[in-house]
Amino acid sequence: MKKMKAMAYAAYGAPEVLQPTETTIPTPKANEVLIKVHAAAVTGSDLMMRQGKPRIGRLYLGMTKPKRTILGYDFAGEVTELGEGVTTFKVGDRVFGGTTTLGSYAEFVCVSVDDVIATMPENLIYEQAGPVCGSAVTVMNFLKGKAGLKPGQKVLINGASGSLGTYAVQIAKQMGAHVTGVSSTGNLAMVQALGADVVIDYTREDFTKNGVLYDVIFDTVGKRSFGDCKRALAPHGLYLSSVLSFPLLLSIIRSSIFGGKKARTSSTGMLPAKERLNYLLEVKEMMKAGKLTTVVDKNYPLSQLAEAHTYVELGHKKGNVVVTVC
Ligand SMILES: NC(=O)c1ccc[n+]([C@@H]2O[C@H](COP(=O)([O-])OP(=O)(O)OC[C@H]3O[C@@H](n4cnc5c(N)ncnc54)[C@H](OP(=O)(O)O)[C@@H]3O)[C@@H](O)[C@H]2O)c1
Repeated sequence: MKKMKAMAYAAYGAPEVLQPTETTIPTPKANEVLIKVHAAAVTGSDLMMRQGKPRIGRLYLGMTKPKRTILGYDFAGEVTELGEGVTTFKVGDRVFGGTTTLGSYAEFVCVSVDDVIATMPENLIYEQAGPVCGSAVTVMNFLKGKAGLKPGQKVLINGASGSLGTYAVQIAKQMGAHVTGVSSTGNLAMVQALGADVVIDYTREDFTKNGVLYDVIFDTVGKRSFGDCKRALAPHGLYLSSVLSFPLLLSIIRSSIFGGKKARTSSTGMLPAKERLNYLLEVKEMMKAGKLTTVVDKNYPLSQLAEAHTYVELGHKKGNVVVTVC
């Protein structure tokens, strides 16, 4: 049995629970491909799975300790083996996506061909493709699926310098919207370079109090409530937040009963894999055409996964943190 290196955790907790291990290279089932992982990502969702928070997530992850000991949702890598029923991929294909059963913090991972997986755009390197699925697909779900953003509409992206935010600014521009990006001083130039028409420094100006109204406010980092943002929404404006909280749930219920301004959220991971795959394929076309790029802040080797999680936990990464595996 051939062995591979991986980073595993035996208990929920701080980044240090992620420890190096050696384990058997998995064998693909009939509908799976074995992928040699080149790049994975560290996202807010990965931190939550490592911490086992919120606790409701443990219904899936394991109540007292993790059932799946190797984390990692996003991946980019090379197909090295096919399950006997697989006809849609071939050995040597460069692929990217997200695996619902996790495990990309390892040299190899098996992914079902019915999951969110596609061949990579040829113009991308693994580090640029690795973080795409979790974040850019989420942005598509919110801006296209939930908001139905239309050309000419005014959208504000709060947290425009983060992983969701950097994709959101570019995707909203692709959709023909007028884009305002909100970040701290040091990230304004980057947000503007990504295509934002207007940038606002949240350390100097409160976008909810400057009198400008938006059709859509997408809070990618859950830092501003619906209550705050209401005054900056047009009469039938929509507030979207990717970060679920109890107050947000109350706002969603209240706004669905009263008034024209609405609050919404969505859990992208709960969408059918086919829907997420379709979003990934749209994102792939944008990347192929050079209209969407991945901002990479830092790159860590797999052995330094705990350091990568610690850095992301600070809450100020610029775009994406990539884990280089092979
Ligand atoms: N619902 C879903 O389907 C879904 C899917 C994926 C992720 N998520 C969630 O979405 C959240 C965001 O994920 P992410 O990976 O995009 O985050 P991230 O990259 O870690 O966010 C970091 C960014 O947040 C910015 N930021 C921090 N404080 C801010 C503030 N007060 N105002 C505006 N910006 C601020 C920082 O900019 P500065 O350094 O300039 O402050 C930094 O660039 C996570 O909670 C994640 O779990 C949800």
